[in-house]
Amino acid sequence: MSTYTVRVCNGGPCSRSGAKRLMRIIKKATGLKPGKKDATMDLDFCSCLGYCSMSPNIEVQDSDGNVGMVFTPEDENVMKAIYAGGEIQEEGNVIDADSLFDDFLVDN
Ligand code: FES
Repeated sequence: MSTYTVRVCNGGPCSRSGAKRLMRIIKKATGLKPGKKDATMDLDFCSCLGYCSMSPNIEVQDSDGNVGMVFTPEDENVMKAIYAGGEIQEEGNVIDADSLFDDFLVDN
């Protein structure tokens, strides 16, 4: 089992705002292609994650089942955010995907 399951959103808004660029960064860092996995990472694209306004987005699940989100990452922070379990935003805030989703539901 891989340590991290990483899904790069390939929905319309994320596609238009850099999903393929993010995937290239991950491929370069890991040697993995979408749909492939090794002991560290299970990597693939996925459909819309529901956070289009914050695109491009990556969902990260660790081996304990914790799910985090990486929102609009700068290129140099993509791998750092993944290895942090998706708990880094560009502003440096630690986020919790579940509470954010609750906020999303309340606000929309
Ligand atoms: S298209 Fe990526 S979150 Fe909606």
